[in-house]
Amino acid sequence: MKDTKMTLPDLFAMKNSGEKIAMLTAYDASFARVLDAAGIDVILVGDSLGMVVLGYESTVPVTMDEMVHHARAVRHGVKRALLVGDMPFLSYQVSVEEAVRNGGRFLKEAGCEAVKLEGGIEVCETVRALVRAGIPVMGHIGLTPQTACQLGGYKVQGRDIDSARRIIREARELERAGAFAVVLECIPDQLAGVISRELAIPTIGIGAGSHCDGQVLVIHDLLGLFEKYVPSFVKVYVKLAPQIKEAVSSYIAEVKSGSFPDSAHSFTMDMAIEDILGDVES
Ligand code: KIV
Repeated sequence: MKDTKMTLPDLFAMKNSGEKIAMLTAYDASFARVLDAAGIDVILVGDSLGMVVLGYESTVPVTMDEMVHHARAVRHGVKRALLVGDMPFLSYQVSVEEAVRNGGRFLKEAGCEAVKLEGGIEVCETVRALVRAGIPVMGHIGLTPQTACQLGGYKVQGRDIDSARRIIREARELERAGAFAVVLECIPDQLAGVISRELAIPTIGIGAGSHCDGQVLVIHDLLGLFEKYVPSFVKVYVKLAPQIKEAVSSYIAEVKSGSFPDSAHSFTMDMAIEDILGDVES
């Protein structure tokens, strides 16, 4: 593992050498510090923030201000990983100018090194403008959660010949537009394999099988912290929610019974309390 700061050329080199890219989401400095120390290559401040941290029903309501606020917090915890900010719904669709201004906020205000945005051919002009402005862009195709309604819900994409061909075309166009990588979400393993072989830029899969150049998961899913909905492609490496609940129940019981805090978790002083009380009274 490279122990210096991850850069875009490092990701290309990893693709070319066959070393897989490991990417995870983070939304605050504490988590980011742990992920970074573990050696994660890329940290995405995902707009999944809306669901796993802010309690929204989808990613649609997430604002630029919320994203920048959390991305800045993550920045404080990251030394090595490449930091990518996720452009929320309507921060890049209204006009190219607005997209460049908002993309720039991730770099200027939050210290991100790149942005990610969802969409295929329809966002290529925006991708070109961002890249021209010096803002590296990661694409995101297949299942695009911001427009899941138009896709008929959170469903696997590219299972029929037309949509598979469309996804291949979108990947090619994003590469041509200057994207440095592309997330492939919820598409068949074989389709992700074809795209990964054809593109010179790395593909990062989520629910897209093992042939991608890298993988990404939402950190709350991997740690079993978000139990409301766990997609079938998620591997839960540890179930933290029940462990946290057990720890909190123990705390509540000890506070109620008076067994916390005990002497090991309290401060004492060398003076007799009577001496202090005498002073206070005089
Ligand atoms: O918002 C997010 O977390 C994402 C990834 C999981 C790809 O877009």
